[in-house]
Parts: sequence; structure tokens; C-alpha cells
Amino acid sequence: HVISRKDYKEPDFFVEKVELVFDLEREVTNVKSRLFIHANPARGTGVDDEVFLYGEDMKLVSVSINERRLASGDFTVDQEGLRFTAPREAFIAEIETQISPANNTRLEGLYVSQSAFCTQCEAEGFRRITYFPDRPDVMATFKVTINADKSSCPVLLSNGNLIDSGDLDGGRHFAVWEDPFPKPSYLFALVAGDLACVEDSFKTVSGRDVALRIFVEHGNEDRCDFAMDSLKRSMKWDEEVYGLEYDLDLFNIVAVSDFNMGAMENKSLNVFNAKYILAKPDTATDMDFELIESIVAHEYFHNWSGNRVTCRDWFQLSLKEGLTVFRDQEFSADQRSRPVQRIKDVAQLRARQFPEDGGPLAHPVRPDSYMEINNFYTATVYEKGAELIRMMHTLLGSDGYRKGIDLYFDRHDGQAVTCDDFAKAMEDANDIDFTQLKLWYSQAGTPKLWWEGDYDADAKQYRITLTQKTDPTPGQGDKKPLHMPVSIGLLGADGNDLAAKTVELTQATQEFVFDGVTEKPVVSFNRGFSAPVNVMTDQPDAELAFLMGNDSDAFNRWEAGQKYATRLMLSAISNFEENDGNADAALNDVAVAVDAFIGAMQATLLNDGLDKAFRADALVLPGEEFISEQRKPANPDAIHQVRNALRKRIGVALMDDFENTYHQNASNAAFTPDALSAGQRALRATALGYLVASGETRFADLASDQYKASDNMTDQMAALSVLNHLDHPGRADALADFETRFAKDGVVLDKWFALQAMSSRDDTLARVKDLMGHPAFTMRNPNKVRSLIGAFAMGNPRHFHAKDGSGYEFYTDRLIELDDINPQVAARLCAPLGKWAKYDDDRAEMMKAALQRILAKEDISRDLYEIASKSAAA
Ligand code: ARG
Ligand code: ZN
Repeated sequence: HVISRKDYKEPDFFVEKVELVFDLEREVTNVKSRLFIHANPARGTGVDDEVFLYGEDMKLVSVSINERRLASGDFTVDQEGLRFTAPREAFIAEIETQISPANNTRLEGLYVSQSAFCTQCEAEGFRRITYFPDRPDVMATFKVTINADKSSCPVLLSNGNLIDSGDLDGGRHFAVWEDPFPKPSYLFALVAGDLACVEDSFKTVSGRDVALRIFVEHGNEDRCDFAMDSLKRSMKWDEEVYGLEYDLDLFNIVAVSDFNMGAMENKSLNVFNAKYILAKPDTATDMDFELIESIVAHEYFHNWSGNRVTCRDWFQLSLKEGLTVFRDQEFSADQRSRPVQRIKDVAQLRARQFPEDGGPLAHPVRPDSYMEINNFYTATVYEKGAELIRMMHTLLGSDGYRKGIDLYFDRHDGQAVTCDDFAKAMEDANDIDFTQLKLWYSQAGTPKLWWEGDYDADAKQYRITLTQKTDPTPGQGDKKPLHMPVSIGLLGADGNDLAAKTVELTQATQEFVFDGVTEKPVVSFNRGFSAPVNVMTDQPDAELAFLMGNDSDAFNRWEAGQKYATRLMLSAISNFEENDGNADAALNDVAVAVDAFIGAMQATLLNDGLDKAFRADALVLPGEEFISEQRKPANPDAIHQVRNALRKRIGVALMDDFENTYHQNASNAAFTPDALSAGQRALRATALGYLVASGETRFADLASDQYKASDNMTDQMAALSVLNHLDHPGRADALADFETRFAKDGVVLDKWFALQAMSSRDDTLARVKDLMGHPAFTMRNPNKVRSLIGAFAMGNPRHFHAKDGSGYEFYTDRLIELDDINPQVAARLCAPLGKWAKYDDDRAEMMKAALQRILAKEDISRDLYEIASKSAAA
């Protein structure tokens, strides 16, 4: 059953007000709802007066219209919802349902996490709580009464303001919450439980005092400081950069252990996966701190880009997600290092979105159809969507962009709108035409971009010709040329820019001229990754080395290193395949290039003028997944061995430098999660990684010592993740120590599961199977599933793609098992099997057979069916 964007119709009925009463019990919760409904005035007269309310997996107790209870013949209920005939005038519907939070393993709607009740309603979870027009263009004010046992649920939360509370008979109590802002049902939230609270406050620019509260399980109160600080910085940043202020007196965050995604922006009651809130130096790594900062910001920013202005329908998801990701990326860039942030975002885009756009699940930023909307919370909608907004920002400049944003919020505050409405505000505010740019919303696939330059010494002109092409994707054969900004710098021999500008490519092929270029330049192309495309043109090694050392655009310095390394590895991998699998010999065949590359790496390592975080990133070779995207068939063994052999060479060649770097960057200061000290730790960890890669045992000893001696999780994980692939006794010791220390600490123990799932050791699959029996492991907790099962498929290409098919078999069994528990997570984890076209015939056959086995499952969910069937078909 496929839903199409072109079939959108306005709702026949609106709900202006909802009153909900919850009687919370784990096994059976009673929900009473009063809906104030009126017909859509825009709808034609004489049309169907049937009211349809979505509802799934509930027991319907009763329905009344204007206080008259409907007899069973007056309404119909099926798998999808409830239907009855509307009275002539506006009316009140009262509906009573029963649901079972304790048995809700899908974690959509109302469910139980540890001892607390919580909800997840985006996208379509509200219909698992009560019958409702559960679509985002129906916006209502909510008044919510929660009744619950006082001792097990002292905390009762919902959206908006607390307007009443008190005790009830039988050890129960109640709270009443009212949210003055009309909102779609997907933004509804309820939390009840015995939770600890950490409190702070923020004064908005206009002087409103906002109470900020973070609710966590007892014992975790000391892990909220960083999230709280991130929240306050986000609030300030949104005022300063976007002129957007918070609009209520209370902002709550709740951290829960069981959560399908990262976090959720429910109005004034954000619910988070605990992993993106809880952090202190000895439990969280620098990367965790960074993620917490950006996700707290992301959810906060949704208060405007998502809640105040929301989506008309789910095809418009990128309206809020692309924009909000762009906003959180820019926030992080301002809080930390802008170039390092851009490098991370692009690396992520290339690792996750490009493969999606080039595979069987490719879809436009604004999809045209779906079976299950939860399958469209994708890297394309989020990250490519953010690139689209970034291009608008580049084309309009900061001021023009801000004018467009101001008009957008002005015009559409309180409305449910479309991506076209957003683009229109940008166009109108700037008197500009984005017709062609908007193709980025509708056209799937990563464009390819070629360039060719020509220097005319007499005219002092540099001419550059750009050519673009986007390959067909499933369901989209013909692609049009896109509008994109391409930033280009021309470097002179001294390393300075002779010229630089951002050109606007709109044609399939187009020439641009730079004047006043006094010598033949080296081209720095697509600076800052201004166009989110695959640049196909190769530059000679020497030019890449020159750019690595000289480009004024830090992003392109990194990019040049990545290109250089990729090219080197790709030729070594071909050699490896020809010489029967000798990685050393394969590298010897390109020895000159390897030496030159190592020289360029050394220059980066030793360049104290560069940020340490940047140097750490620049020294990391492109990952195995990235390399496998660059060749067909991908050969996971060859890629793994060649990459490791190259790492070893670098480790041996630069051993002294890495040793110095390692020791010089030791720190005795107390841990702080700021970008500068994180950069120092990252550089030191990179050095340790290469030292261990050199193969000398003393460095494995050093890693083992580092694990024992350090007092923070960042340094401990750095040590453990290099020991993780070795036979060194330090590995077992460290893993045992880790397990003991964090036995009761779900979020931290997940790292331990993931490490073992990602080990390249031969016994990994056996170990993963064992770990499924670990007392802390359960298929019902998405974080556990992702850490052990997901990490095996996505973080261990060598074992997942084992030649004998053992990885696929194990994984397929798990997906089938998981589909009965949590279809949304099962569907998400299915994507790796869909990459069969990238692999050799044997592997491709096994992967396709795995997909067929999934499709043959009885009662397969709509979620998993959509992913598996599309993956098998393409
Ligand atoms: N809107 C949330 C965010 O990006 C994501 C929620 C997605 N949940 C889901 N079940 N599809 O911040
Ligand atoms: Zn979001």
C-alpha cells in the first residue's frame, strides 16, 4: 500500500482542541479523549460527511458524539481506524480507548522504558494512543490530565504549562498540562515515572525567565551538566543568529533508555535517547559530548523550525529536518572549529547519504511516495536536505538568507506548510528565482561534476569548464542539470590565492573565466564542499600534495589528502587482486607514490599552524566503507588488508614523529570537553593508532598502559579501540575491567558491545553470538541491538561480508527475529543487505537470498517489507 505525494488532500475535518485523560497502568492504560471538531470550511458542500480517525492496536471502549453514545451500528472500526457520520455543525467527539504500554515493544505511542512511561508520536504514533486525525496539518491545542500511582510515578509531564495537580484516592495523584500553542499530534508527549531532575534557568533576550529541567533515572543527576550547558548555548545562539526566542516558561528534557531514534522535539517536552544526554568525563568520549551538544541544539531549534512552523504532510519532512540539521551544523561550527565541523559533516554525508543516493533506496529530499514514513527519516531527507539549505545560504549570503528566514517565520508562524513555501519565502525576500535550485528537492542521485582548466598566459586568464551529470535512480530515468554554487580558488606557486570566486553552475556544461591570473595556477575546486556532489576530475599527486600543504581552504586541504589516499589505496587494491593477496607487495608496486604521500602526511602532522583537531582528521585514511563505494566489485578483504598495510607503513615511517606527538600531547589537566582539548586528545589518539599499527609490541603495551592510567573515557576508548583488534593480553584485561565497571550502566556498556562487534579478530562472529546471551543484552532495547547487531553489519565489513556467508546468515536471523519486536528498527538495520550490487557475484547472490528469506517471513511488517522489497528489486 503506497502513499503518493500527489494524492495530498486537505483534511475534511479539523480538531481545534483536544482534552485527554490518561489513567496510567503498565498493563492497561485507559485513555479518554474529547475532540472539538469542525468541518474544513474549504471543503465543498454536499461531500461525504464521514469522519475518519486513525487508530491502531487499541481496544475501543466507547464513542460519543455531543454526549450521545454511539451504538455499534453507528460507527465502524478496522485495522486503520474509526469511521462515523458527522453531525451538521461543529461537534464534540468523546472516545475511550485502552492500550498496553508494557507490551508496546515497537516503542511507538505510549510505552514503558525502565520504570517510566513515555511516548514517541512522530511520525504516526499518536494513533496508537487514541483515535485521531493523526496528520500534521491538523493542529489543535492540547489539555492533558495524567492520573497515576504516586509512589511509582511522582513525576507527571506533558506539553505546555502545568495548570493543576493534586492527590487522588488509592495512592494516586494527577497533573493537568495545557499547551497554548496549537500543534499536530506528532508533537504530543507524556512522561510519568520516578525520575530525578536537574534544574537550571535561562533568561531570554526579551526578559522571559525559562525554567530548564532535565529528567533522568536516579543516580544519573551528575551526568546532565553538559546537556544543560548545551541547551543554554543553543537558546542564546538561536536568539543571536536567527532572532528566535523561546516561547514558554518551561522547557523539559527527559532521557530514556529505550528509544528508536536519537531524540524528539515534542513541544516543551523533548524526549531523548539517554545516550544523547548523559555524559561525564569518565563515561563519555569527546565524540559523545559533541553529539550531545548538536542533538540538544537540534531538538531545541525544532521549537521554531518544526513546531511553530510545521509540515503540511510527511513528504515535506525535510522542511523541518533539513533546515534544522543545517541550523545545528552551523551552531556546532560556531561553538567549535568551523572547518573541522564541515569536514565531519561532509565525511558523514559521503559515508551515509551518497551510498543511499546511489543504491536501491535512493529517493529525493522530498520523496514522491512511501509505504512507511518511518523509513524516510533518512540521511537524504536530513543531511542532503541540510546541504540544500546550505546552498541557499551560499547563494543568498548571510544577510539574504536571514531575510528569507525572517519572512518564512513571519508568514507561516502557526501553520503547516511545504518545502515550496519555504523556497518561496527565500525567493520573495530576495527577489530571486529558485525554480532550478528546487530540483534538488525532487531529483534523487548524487550529481557527478567534472572540470577542465586552461591557462592563457598572454591574456592572464584562466578558463574553467564544468560539466555535470546525474545518473538514473530507481523510478527516475532522466535527470536535469542542477543549479549549484561551486567555490573555486586558484593557487600560485607560493601557495597564496591568485583568484577565488563562487560560480553558479546551471547548465550541463558551462565555462567560467578568471581574469588577472598572473601565473599558471593549481586549482582548489569546490571549496568547503559548496556543491554536495562527486567531483570526478583527478589532479596529479603533486598538486594534491601541494593543496594539502597550502590551500587557504582548510576543508580542501583535508579533501586533497583524502583524494590522494583514496587513489593510492585503489591502485594498491587492484595490485592486491592481481598478485594473489599480498598487501605488502601491492604497496611496493606504488612505492614512490606511497613515500610521497607519507611525506605529505608528515608535513600535516608537524604543522603547528594547524588546529590539532584538523590534523587528527587529516591523518585518518578514508574508511573501508568509503573505499568500497569507490569500486565495483567492492572487495572487503582486499580493502581491509591494504588499508591496514598502508597504516602500518605510515606508522613505521613516521614512528618518531608519532611518538613525539603522543608524548607532547599528554595532559595532566582535569578533563574538559571543549574543542581545543578534544583536538589535543584526538591527535594523540591518532598517533597512538599509527604506533600500534606499526606492529611493535611496545606500543600495544603503551595502549594497555594508557587504558589503565587514564581517568577519562576518551583516552580509555582510544586505547581500547586499538587494542580491540589485537591478541595482546591488554585487550582482554581492559574489556574485563570495562565490563565490571559499567555492568549496570546501559549507555556505557553499549560501547563495550559495539567494540567487540567491530573487532577484526577472527573470533568476532562467535563472540557476537555469545554476547547475545549476556545478561545486559536484550533484543527489546534498540541501543543494545544497534551496538551489537548493527555495529557488526555497519562497522565490520570484513566479517559481515565473510566469504562463507556466515555474517549474512547470522544477521538475517536477527532481522527476522527483531521484526516481531520492533519493525522500525528492523527496517533500519536492513539497509546493509541492500548493497548487494556493490559486491562480487557470490556475495551478491547470498545477500539477495537473505533479502528473499526476509520477504518470505510470515506477517512481515510494512516497515521491513518496504526496505527489503525495494532492496531486492533494484
Ligand atoms: N524529529 C526527530 C528529530 O529528528 C526524529 C523523530 C523520528 N522518529 C521516528 N520514529 N521516525 O529530531
Ligand atoms: Zn529533527
